[in-house]
Amino acid sequence: MTALSEKHGAYNLAQGLMWLPPDPHLLEEARSAFTDHTLHQYSSPAGVPALRTAIAMLSEKFFETPYDPDREITITAGATEAIFSAIQALTLPGDEALFIEPAYDSYLPAFQSGNVQARAVPMEISEKGARLDWEAVAASLSEKTRILLLNFPHNPTGRALHLEDVHILETLVARYPRLYLVVDEAYEYMYWHPDPSQATPLPPLSVRQSPILREKSVIIGSLGKILGTTGWRLGYIAAPAELTARIRAVHQFITFCAPTPLQIAAAKYLHSNPNRVFFFHDTLLARRKLFVELLRTYTSLKILPPEGGYFVLIRPTENQLPDIQLAEHLTREAKVASIPLSPFYGDGTDPGWLRLCFARSVDMLKNAAQRLGEVYPADQPTDHLTE
Ligand SMILES: Cc1ncc(COP(=O)(O)O)c(C=O)c1O
Repeated sequence: MTALSEKHGAYNLAQGLMWLPPDPHLLEEARSAFTDHTLHQYSSPAGVPALRTAIAMLSEKFFETPYDPDREITITAGATEAIFSAIQALTLPGDEALFIEPAYDSYLPAFQSGNVQARAVPMEISEKGARLDWEAVAASLSEKTRILLLNFPHNPTGRALHLEDVHILETLVARYPRLYLVVDEAYEYMYWHPDPSQATPLPPLSVRQSPILREKSVIIGSLGKILGTTGWRLGYIAAPAELTARIRAVHQFITFCAPTPLQIAAAKYLHSNPNRVFFFHDTLLARRKLFVELLRTYTSLKILPPEGGYFVLIRPTENQLPDIQLAEHLTREAKVASIPLSPFYGDGTDPGWLRLCFARSVDMLKNAAQRLGEVYPADQPTDHLTE
């Protein structure tokens, strides 16, 4: 979609990354790490100790859940590598796994590489929200299921983890002692008030806060998402020591270690002020509020604002086109590039929604909403716009 966006000179709300500059203090740490000639070699495969202690410190401070940085935290080359390593480490060929669709696109290939029989349970997506069908999850689990792979806040629907989910998961892991949870928390701190007109963050929630689930879970984080530096390729895994040992044995032969100077820079930045994990929150919340208001003002599109993360889902009230064609049509006609949801399904299911990323400049969001309004005009003028 990015290539098509460039071809048509469209506003690129497709790519799932923040077009917002990282904190200058972080870039300063990176500059100083790169000019230190002693920091350009391999780190320990588990990761630079200072970054592991930073991740443990953040988990204790914001989730009240300690991890031992020596035996329970591993720094990886992004969340993508972490997901791959965890799946390879915890499964044998022929094992079964379960995940939720729509799904981040690396999950299925990671299962396939390990010859794991992965089945997907679909979410129900409507204007009211994305519903996790826990009855279907429970019915699909068996003694043979080794991994239940979850993602909170969820890409692309923005569904956050709720306390009820935690209680259900506690019941499920009690029923299936061989089951592990692999929980992709790439957007871990980005929990928002459900009403987009309230530009306020909520305290983040993680399955690790349940002592029962902590012992059964591999938590995956993305420093690229937290710090707005996806190109640095830094992620982490927090997991009980026995699972960490197995995951490290795989991670070591995939990437060996993440980039050393960038690990040092991230560690110094986070140690000197842990609240920096919220660096983008005010901006993201203001953009979510503005963009949703603009879409409601100018367009007749159905909108699903997120409970977490930085994507909003849209769909036309009436549409005959498959979602890929619809996204292409919008790129050409409205000059707005989006991501169709069908590629988030192994079998190409098309739930009819398109994903837009609002981690963009105010101008870009205003222009994009106006252009969408030209193709899908609002039925009547509305007064949603408050700024
Ligand atoms: C749900 C989810 N998990 C993982 C990733 C990958 O994170 P990283 O860049 O740290 O590999 C992404 C990136 O978009 C994502 O949306």
